Amino acid sequence: MIIQTNNIKRVFEVGSETVHALKGINLNVESGEFISIMGPSGSGKTTLMNIIGCLDTPSSGEYFLNNQLVNDLNEDQLAIIRNKEIGFVFQSFHLLAKNSALNNVLLPMKYAGADMNDAERRAKYVLEQVGLSDRINHGPSELSGGQQQRVAIARALVNKPSILFADEPTGNLDSKTGEDVMNLFKGLNQEGQTIILITHEENIAMQSKRIVNIKDGLIESDERI
Ligand SMILES: Nc1ncnc2c1ncn2[C@@H]1O[C@H](COP(=O)(O)OP(=O)(O)OP(=O)(O)O)[C@@H](O)[C@H]1O
Ligand SMILES: [Mg+2]
Repeated sequence: MIIQTNNIKRVFEVGSETVHALKGINLNVESGEFISIMGPSGSGKTTLMNIIGCLDTPSSGEYFLNNQLVNDLNEDQLAIIRNKEIGFVFQSFHLLAKNSALNNVLLPMKYAGADMNDAERRAKYVLEQVGLSDRINHGPSELSGGQQQRVAIARALVNKPSILFADEPTGNLDSKTGEDVMNLFKGLNQEGQTIILITHEENIAMQSKRIVNIKDGLIESDERI
């Protein structure tokens, strides 16, 4: 089991108000799964992703990542886990504007302290995997939206994460380009990559293997397709 959550709750205090964003989430994910998380705006999808992705910790409940209890880890240990175990892809790409595609992809390896020759070889390999061998020296402003998202995917993959997370990865792309990105995810999953993506679009979710519906901070349904 890669992910196991036991009754995870997340409460936010905003002024005098208390927001119960997650009300008791039990989610198990095995290695090699391809899951879509769906649900209305404000239902808790990003909050859940942030916890599973070790960007945030639950108010209560347990989270085990690769059988390790994440609750007990400090900020530095969480940062190491994020860098090594988790790759993030966002709707708005989040690339460094003044850096080439290659440098954007190299960065997580630099943080991990990799040998620079190995890092460059690996970065070029993942850029080739996403079909961008001929664009490695281009900056984000010299790439199309779909190409920028593919750089972001290469960056997410470069440290061989246990989990690839994507929050609305096709949200800023036209439908054809979104389709290309989904095909890339499907190929990566076929090679064994565990993927969890958040989407509002039924036709995107249908391309994964399991759909988890979140409503009002709880899992409403969880179906394999
Ligand atoms: N940092 C925060 N402080 C206070 N409240 C928060 C915070 N983050 C999220 N919330 C609240 O928690 C609830 C869940 O938010 P979340 O961002 O997880 O929703 P979502 O399902 O990702 O929505 P969307 O589809 O719009 O992205 C919302 O009511 C939101 O206002
Ligand atoms: Mg969200």
